[in-house]
This record gives sequence, C-alpha cells and structure tokens, in this order.
Amino acid sequence: MTTTEKDASPKANKDRVLIFDTTLRDGEQSPGATMTHDEKLEIAELLDDMGVDIIEAGFPIASEGDFRAVKEIAERSKDAVICGLARAQLPDIDRCYEAVKHARQPRIHTFIGTSPLHRAIPNLTMDEMADRIHETVTHARNLCDNVQWSPMDATRTEWDYLCRVIEIAIKAGASTINIPDTVGYTAPRESADLIRRLIETVPGADDVVFATHCHNDLGMATANALAAVEGGARQIECTINGLGERAGNTALEEVVMALKVRGDIMPFSTRIDTKKIMHISRRVSTVSGFPVQFNKAIVGKNAFAHESGIHQDGMLKNAETFEIMRPEDVGLAGTSLPLGKHSGRAALRAKLKDLGVEVGDNQLKDIFVRFKDLADRKKEVFDDDILALVSATTESA
Ligand code: KIV
Ligand code: ZN
Repeated sequence: MTTTEKDASPKANKDRVLIFDTTLRDGEQSPGATMTHDEKLEIAELLDDMGVDIIEAGFPIASEGDFRAVKEIAERSKDAVICGLARAQLPDIDRCYEAVKHARQPRIHTFIGTSPLHRAIPNLTMDEMADRIHETVTHARNLCDNVQWSPMDATRTEWDYLCRVIEIAIKAGASTINIPDTVGYTAPRESADLIRRLIETVPGADDVVFATHCHNDLGMATANALAAVEGGARQIECTINGLGERAGNTALEEVVMALKVRGDIMPFSTRIDTKKIMHISRRVSTVSGFPVQFNKAIVGKNAFAHESGIHQDGMLKNAETFEIMRPEDVGLAGTSLPLGKHSGRAALRAKLKDLGVEVGDNQLKDIFVRFKDLADRKKEVFDDDILALVSATTESA
C-alpha cells in the first residue's frame, strides 16, 4: 500500500478522502467520447499534477490502444497510483498488470456483477461466483500489492450476498472495496446507510478503504458520493465534468468543491489543487468533444456569471452576496457580469469604467436607454456594442 493511501486509511486519518479519477476509463466509455493516445497522456498528466490520488487509466484488455495508453501513462506517472480495470478473468488480470506494472504505484481493479440481473449474464450460481471472486482477487494480489475489487451493481445486490462476497475479496487480499451504484438507482440516505452498515458488518472492513462509485441517472451522483463519505467511504470515484456512461459519473469538481466549501458540515480534505479545475475541465471537454452545459455546477460558463440588475449590483458591492466560492479558487480570472436586458445601471457604469470610458451623468442616462433598447433585441451585449453606444451618444450630444 502506498503512503498516500496509508494516510487515508480509515484508521490513519478519518478525515482524508482519496480522489480516484476514472475520466480515462468510465468517462471514455461514454458513447462518442473516445480520446486519442496523446490526448489521454495529456489528461493523465493534468490529473497527476492537480493531485488526483488514483488515476484509472483504462481497460487494458479492451483493445491494443487501451493497453498502450495505460502502459505509457503508468511509465510517465509521478505521484498518482495508476490503476487499470480487469474483469474477473485471469487473462484480463494478467493483461492489466502487464500495463500498470510500469507505474511507481500500480493498482489492479477487478470487478464482477453481483446483483441477480448481473449474475444471470455469466450464468453463475452464487457459490460459483463466490469461488470466482476468491480465485481472481487472489490471482491479482499475487501479482500486485494494491488490489481494488468491485461488486458491480452493488446497490441492487442482496444484502447477505453482498456482505459475503466483500468478505471473500478482503480475505483474498483486496485493499480497496468499491461499492458501485452502477445504474444510478440509489438515493443519498441509502448510500450513506449502505456503506455504514457494510463497515459495521463485514469482518475485516476496518482494514480496507471503502470507495463510492456513483452514476448520475437520477441526477444524484454527487449527493450520493458525499453521503457515502458520511457513511465511512474514504475514496470517491469520479470524472472531470461528470463524463461517463449514460448520464455520467460523479463530477470530480463538484465533490471536491463541495468538501472545500462545506467543510463546516463535511470535515474531509482532499489533495486536489482546485485552481487547476477549469483548465482540465476545458481540456476534457475539447478532447472528448462533449461541451459543458452552461449552467453546470463549478465549471459551466454561467457558474460565476450574473446578468440581472439586482445580482450585479449586489456583486459589485460584495461578492459574497451571490457567490459561495471564489472563481479564482477554481482557476477563473474572476466573476463575470455579462450585460443583457436584465442588467442595471450599476453594471453598465462598472463596464464603462473597465473599458476606460468616462461619461457624465447625462450621457450615462442616454447610454443606458439605448443599451436597454439594444438588450431587448440581443441576447448579450458585448464590449464593442457598448463602445458603439458611447460613440453614438457622444456624436448626438
Ligand atoms: O459502474 C460500474 O459498476 C463500474 C464498475 C466497473 C466499477 O464502472
Ligand atoms: Zn461506472
């Protein structure tokens, strides 16, 4: 086990949460989000630099390209643990280790679907699946000290069976037990209770890190991940911009900023340098071809923008009136006050000042009338529009 993980083990430090980023694995599984080899290397480097603890770099058996990407990311890794995904099959696990073994800190993440629906696919009985878990986790552990195991669709798996298979995985040597809400079915209270009860019930649970892996099908991935932390999870699995299968995964920027801003009620720390969030968000959006929605929390174009007169006036007097975090903390230059039909005189005056234009009260009144007329016809009024209005009012004076 690595130093960073030891620090975050529930015994060593109850307040530290490991950030496990799976943009390059679960994120890339999003239809249409495929990234090139060089793009993956660039994103992995940015993740490592921003302080992500574990990078899930890909699924090495999935393709030759995935194998090469995971291997090269492993070779170039600095502080982060580099993890690869493997099904509960020996050749998958071998291939995964071949790719991640080049990292300073390699991890094998192996999984199998344990819910009734998922057990039906390989057509295994409960006992046969339990044996398979024992065999594959033992095999992974013989290759690598750092093994993570996931019961896929854990949140729809029978309670007794879930406890039984987790115990088997821990005894076989897994040091991280990940609890995936594979189809985004769970609600926050259940998410917290499930982790809490597993830690209380499963023998050996105190010696491993519990992880939470949430999908966003009902828009609850962030809330579920944070609730799981309150229940005792100390690793959050997430992606940049919430990229991922269907409605996506827990968004890294959301959980990290929620823990930073609401440390009063969620006293848990991460290693993430939050000032690097905007840059990586933009790069992931560009390379995946997935635009970030304007009103997306933390990284959307409007997350720190205020158009209405009341809000702009408030922001000009005290930024805390309508912002709970500083834009600089996520890597933005500052708040933006775009001018539109809801804007008031205070924002117009501030914009003129920014543009280096000095006007008297009468001219300001005149510009404001013309500005409102223009704003009714245009979604957003830009700097050049304002300068044109200034010229028009100067000429007519
Ligand atoms: O959502 C899921 O269950 C997964 C597993 C492979 C961990 O992504
Ligand atoms: Zn997933």
